[in-house]
Amino acid sequence: MRVGVLTGGGDCPGLNAVIRGVVRRGIDAHGFEIFGFSYGWAGVLAGNGRELTPEATKGILPRGGTILGTSRTNPYKDDDGEQRVKETLARLNVDALIPIGGEDTLGVARGLSAAGVAVIGVPKTIDNDLAGTDYTFGFQTAVQIATDAIDRLHTTAESHNRVLVCEVMGRHAGWIAVHAGLAGGADAILVPERPFDLDEVCAHLRRRHARGRTFSIVVVSEGAVPKEGGAAFSGHESTDAFGHARLGGIGLALEREIEARTGFETRTTILGHTQRGGTPTAYDRVLASRFGVKAADAVAAGESGKMVALRSTKIELVDIDEALAEPKLVDPDLYATAEVFFG
Ligand code: F6P
Repeated sequence: MRVGVLTGGGDCPGLNAVIRGVVRRGIDAHGFEIFGFSYGWAGVLAGNGRELTPEATKGILPRGGTILGTSRTNPYKDDDGEQRVKETLARLNVDALIPIGGEDTLGVARGLSAAGVAVIGVPKTIDNDLAGTDYTFGFQTAVQIATDAIDRLHTTAESHNRVLVCEVMGRHAGWIAVHAGLAGGADAILVPERPFDLDEVCAHLRRRHARGRTFSIVVVSEGAVPKEGGAAFSGHESTDAFGHARLGGIGLALEREIEARTGFETRTTILGHTQRGGTPTAYDRVLASRFGVKAADAVAAGESGKMVALRSTKIELVDIDEALAEPKLVDPDLYATAEVFFG
């Protein structure tokens, strides 16, 4: 059997660990040939890629990024996209696909599965917003990077008596903000799931400083929105092939407003792509490896239209439909726990 692997969407720590898991398990246990498509669905449309072997994937476990390259190409943007994918698979004798990606990549996988292509998805995103799985790989690494940054911001905030705003990624889910904010002892956490009132945020900071605190850390998710309505802050006009606006920059707007309203000197750090660059944590290497092995086993078992998922401590298969039904948003109980420490 010949199996195609691709990585789509934003890169994410652990992608190479999944690829390694698919290759090692697929070849050693199931006798597969593995073809790695370059740059996500772009490589599938064009038929670009290379053979993957244990030798070709040696040493990639701790490496960030993806050895295959990635893109946000959407085959369904073109009327003949699905047909072109099928033609590539037929020409390269690929019997099944393992797309590693988030909502968009798996949305394409679902379409192809409905069109008769054998597909097993692997859930990837630092945002952790995919339903059906307790965690996506890459998330824990992003949280660790953001937590390390918040720890560093603490000492400089304290030295200068400043408010420091730390903007993290997450798109329309506040998972990174809540986890890193809780782990880093943030004094306020703003997430898309709970539109914020800037007057309340400033009143909270004033009360805190009136009690003798001389600095504050505010963690804001890039997709956070004010209560009075309006879209998530986007400093950019462009959208990607899946129609998503480019987020980022809300931290700077908050910096200006908080300083103007409270008189506290305020600075912003936007962590941006540092959150998904570099080596995965041990947790993500383990999760990604388990996902890769399970995906290869699922293909060998003749499964399709499924996604590998972490359920409690086990790796299971769920319908891709279930993962895409609705985004997984921050659990209110978790936010309430983080709030305990806002004082
Ligand atoms: O989905 C992962 C993510 O990193 C989001 O958190 C962020 O909004 C987006 O991708 C940024 O994507 P890029 O800059 O690669 O287009």
